Amino acid sequence: MASPRITIVKHPMALEQLTLARDRRSDQVIFRKAIFRLGRILAYEFLRTLETKEVQVETPLEKSRGEKIKGNDKIVIVMILRASIPFVEGMYKMLPMARTGIISAWRGEPPDFSIEVSYAKIPTIHEDDIVIIADPMLATGHTLVEVANRVMARGKPKRLVFFSVISARQGINYVSRVYPNAEFYTCAIDRKLNKEGYILPGLGDAGDRAFGSPY
Ligand code: URA
Repeated sequence: MASPRITIVKHPMALEQLTLARDRRSDQVIFRKAIFRLGRILAYEFLRTLETKEVQVETPLEKSRGEKIKGNDKIVIVMILRASIPFVEGMYKMLPMARTGIISAWRGEPPDFSIEVSYAKIPTIHEDDIVIIADPMLATGHTLVEVANRVMARGKPKRLVFFSVISARQGINYVSRVYPNAEFYTCAIDRKLNKEGYILPGLGDAGDRAFGSPY
């Protein structure tokens, strides 16, 4: 298998926000804000990969040369309920023209980690689209593969990109075996998964940290 295409974003602000997100003492307000900011930073780094085209602009004083990002209206963000909500909100700050797919997918019990999907609204995907699937935690990769399969059923994009705050190497390998051309943007690759499929050291359950435990 060729090496997965991974960008690890180590901007000082990303490192600080990641630490806040990991910290068990961060309440849900601090946690959501950290995830929001990390979504914004990852999208900012990702934007470096888009080209710009030359445009003309008139300043109050004279005409000048300007730049416009090419293809930022060809981006589709796929949000996975519920932990992706603050993450994607942050991404919109950099990708405001993105179309959005929403999917409710969650992982069953080990060892199968079978995925249940109860809601999916994914726009038609065109061949010049870039799809970004956003999940703060890339753990086993089972959820992301299921989500990507559903995206592919709506059309094949030009690029398939996965955004996560923290990833497990095992999950990246699993996803890239199924989608060898996929790209990964993450802030950290952590040590390992525990038996329940949680990332160690990780940050715990991202949905519970952001919105409170349902129990
Ligand atoms: N999902 C989470 O919220 N946390 C993990 O560590 C793994 C999956």
